Amino acid sequence: MNSETNAEPGVRIANLTKRYGAKTVVDDISIDIERGEFVTFLGPSGSGKTTTLSMIAGFTDVTSGDIEIHDRSVSAIPPHKRDIGMVFQNYALFPHRTVRGNIAFPLERRQVPKARIASQIDDALDMVYMREYAERYPQELSGGQQQRVALARALVYNPAVLLMDEPLGALDKKLRDWLQGEIKRIHREVRSTFLYVTHDQEEALSLSDRIAVFNDGRIEQLGTPQELYESPSTLFVGTFVGDSTLVRASDAQPVAGGLTEALAYGRRVAGRGSLTGEEGAVLIRPENIKLIPADAPTPDANCALPVSLLTATYLGEAWRYEFRLPDGSIGMAKVDGATRTLQPGEEALAVWAPDNAVVLSYDDRHDQFRT
Ligand SMILES: Nc1ncnc2c1ncn2[C@@H]1O[C@H](COP(=O)(O)OP(=O)(O)OP(=O)(O)O)[C@@H](O)[C@H]1O
Ligand SMILES: [Mg+2]
Repeated sequence: MNSETNAEPGVRIANLTKRYGAKTVVDDISIDIERGEFVTFLGPSGSGKTTTLSMIAGFTDVTSGDIEIHDRSVSAIPPHKRDIGMVFQNYALFPHRTVRGNIAFPLERRQVPKARIASQIDDALDMVYMREYAERYPQELSGGQQQRVALARALVYNPAVLLMDEPLGALDKKLRDWLQGEIKRIHREVRSTFLYVTHDQEEALSLSDRIAVFNDGRIEQLGTPQELYESPSTLFVGTFVGDSTLVRASDAQPVAGGLTEALAYGRRVAGRGSLTGEEGAVLIRPENIKLIPADAPTPDANCALPVSLLTATYLGEAWRYEFRLPDGSIGMAKVDGATRTLQPGEEALAVWAPDNAVVLSYDDRHDQFRT
């Protein structure tokens, strides 16, 4: 098995580009993934996630740039010699082989001695709790069971890197949640480098050590789930990862304390960041907004905007309120506690502390403002 430490290079991607004709679908991507890390490629449809993964796997030719796995450039190495395992969305099991036969395949291909094959298969089956299904054929299994077999088949030869492209995409939510937990457990057990593709931000947040947010063939931000959620570097990342309220604002000016102030609907609004003169947007997470009566005084140093409440949704430990901002866009606040304090239809003030918000450059490539 691979090294236990995190400091060694796992997968290094340098200036990776893919063009189809005149269209650049992966645009000069560079990323260093440490050995044993769990990194997720997150992004909308068509942003280049699968193409990038497929170049790492060796199924798609690189237009330019380089890929190293464990300090070895793999550009000239065929897929089955790259020390990777791969799991796809659609199981891709061999229909005429049993579960055992499917998992045996990569071992046979690597000419593992027969005597060792059986025990390695048993270990892989145990890892995904599928030992009792060993003699069944894929069509005799549910989708979730097939995907567990696909996982066992990808892991049975202890690859340095496991690539997974939306492996849970075809499964229902309950099964997906359970298998997410299983994938995390397996990652902890095998300590290989996991590279995972999804367009589901909740899945990315719950699984990953770090997330690379893809947009239009580029990595827009690479960071831990917490970094992306608390300190998105662009409006695209901020709105793609997690819920938020956006307040469009003008005349942005940096002020003391790492904050930027701007104007929205004649009021001063502020958040973390450094923006000058541009049109900006203040992004506030739902749990960082307080709703207070419309005629209450704004607490010192906080920002406040008048809003009208639209809906109140009971979440058990909290209430989620949706409200309309003065420009008609919709915002969201999550308020702890079991008692509903405000009614739909009421006017209120949405209040936040500038330290709990981010001011970002307004970017109309992705008009995320709902009206
Ligand atoms: N063989 C191909 N020939 C031409 N264009 C392609 C080819 N494969 C992919 N593309 C284009 O490359 C872009 C990126 O595709 P890719 O499959 O990497 O996106 P993705 O991020 O995986 O999207 P999804 O979430 O829908 O799976 C898309 O615009 C796609 O149409
Ligand atoms: Mg894809």
